Amino acid sequence: MATTTTTKPRDSWGSKFGFVMAAAGSAVGLGNIWKFPYTAGESGGGAFVAIYLLFVIFIGFSVMLTEFAIGRKTSVSAVGAFKSTDRRWTFVGVIGVLSGLLIMGFYPVVGGWAVAYIYKIATGLLSTPEAIGDSFGSFISDPVQPLMWMGLYLLFNIFVVIRGVSGGIEKAGKILMPLLFLILVLVAVKGLSLPGAMAGLEFLFQPDFSKVNSSVVLAALGQAFFSLSLGMGCMITYGSYLKRKENLVQTTAMVTAMDTGVAMLAGVAMFPAMFAFSIEPAAGPGLVFVVVPQLFAEMGGVIGLLLALLFFIGLSVAALTSSVSLLEVVVSYLIDEKGMKRPTAVLSASAVMAVLCVFASLSLGGTGPTLFSTGAFDIFDLLTDKIFLAVGGMFVCIFAGWRLNRAELEKEITNDGQIKFPLFGLWYNLVKYVIPFAIAIVAIAGVKAGFDSGKGEIMMIGLGVIGIAALLSKKL
Ligand code: PHE
Repeated sequence: MATTTTTKPRDSWGSKFGFVMAAAGSAVGLGNIWKFPYTAGESGGGAFVAIYLLFVIFIGFSVMLTEFAIGRKTSVSAVGAFKSTDRRWTFVGVIGVLSGLLIMGFYPVVGGWAVAYIYKIATGLLSTPEAIGDSFGSFISDPVQPLMWMGLYLLFNIFVVIRGVSGGIEKAGKILMPLLFLILVLVAVKGLSLPGAMAGLEFLFQPDFSKVNSSVVLAALGQAFFSLSLGMGCMITYGSYLKRKENLVQTTAMVTAMDTGVAMLAGVAMFPAMFAFSIEPAAGPGLVFVVVPQLFAEMGGVIGLLLALLFFIGLSVAALTSSVSLLEVVVSYLIDEKGMKRPTAVLSASAVMAVLCVFASLSLGGTGPTLFSTGAFDIFDLLTDKIFLAVGGMFVCIFAGWRLNRAELEKEITNDGQIKFPLFGLWYNLVKYVIPFAIAIVAIAGVKAGFDSGKGEIMMIGLGVIGIAALLSKKL
């Protein structure tokens, strides 16, 4: 059994700015720019967005603060953070590591698409705007091409994570996050200038609550957790590298605001253009890969080409700064708990992820095993986004509220009283009572509704896995 403490001083973030950028880099990714727009489109628009925002403010913010506090207090990665306090809680960290593996079982596939689109745009995709939609469909269902791009994307991840947090991850985030933000603003401005753009804004921001059902509410909750990188120990792990003097509340507020800002911006960049081009809001996972190239093709000329290239470079980088954080959760578990050297940990974790990604990518072309007629890509997405993250977040809150001690949490969050946090009591009560209860209700209703769309069985399996992990917790 490896120890949870090492004699070497623990790697830590070089500067406050570096940490905020790295945490924001983890949060801002495909979740905001790829997943948020198409999920909002499939879930009816405005009402979904309104519920999502409520969840971000009341649940996301509180859970992120909780994860940072747990991580910094224990100074070990996800599994160790729970284990070092109480072995019965180890399963929460283990579920987190499992979520990391499963998300990395499809995330690099989409990351690979983003990188592939840089190449495709550079080699003339925009010159035949009418073919952009079909070319996406045939590309992702091809058995070989997406796999090569996925492999390349995974190599980038390995390269960054092998160098450790304060080297690779921090640098990549610091330079490239602001660039991405700027490009998105440009895309949004262009989209809004198109005729008929207003209908897109209305769809996105005018809630029609008659479209809301339990599946939509669970989708909004899952999206909030996925987008903020919560419920799987990622922010616990990042917090464990955080120096004691940083202001956790302020950091949480900044990361949450940036993440939500980028998601909204992505919506504003995408929906007006979609309505202008009469693309269905429910067009699904292809949305960014179809709408954005079309938008730039419409713009035409060298400027259109250049902006399209920059957009997909930005998207690839945003994806990268998120997936390195997912890989880091698994890697830091192998280092802290299994005593592996960093390179060995990175290579073994990535090998497993590569295999999962092959299944995920092939499933989009209809090849490979299915479960309840669902392919690997959708299984990994469903299990993590709809079950593991939200339920993981619920346990993080129960752990903080009922297992940790209120006074110690207050000391951690206020840096021994040096920082004022007048809302501490509100935060504590939300975490202890309201959030666990809210998540339980949303999850139960969502799983029940899932049976109508053939997704309930897989969600139940997810709940079963958590149950088994909890029962075995002392042995984990
Ligand atoms: N938040 C990331 C995104 O939006 C994905 C992610 C989820 C990263 C969970 C880490 C943990 O793309």
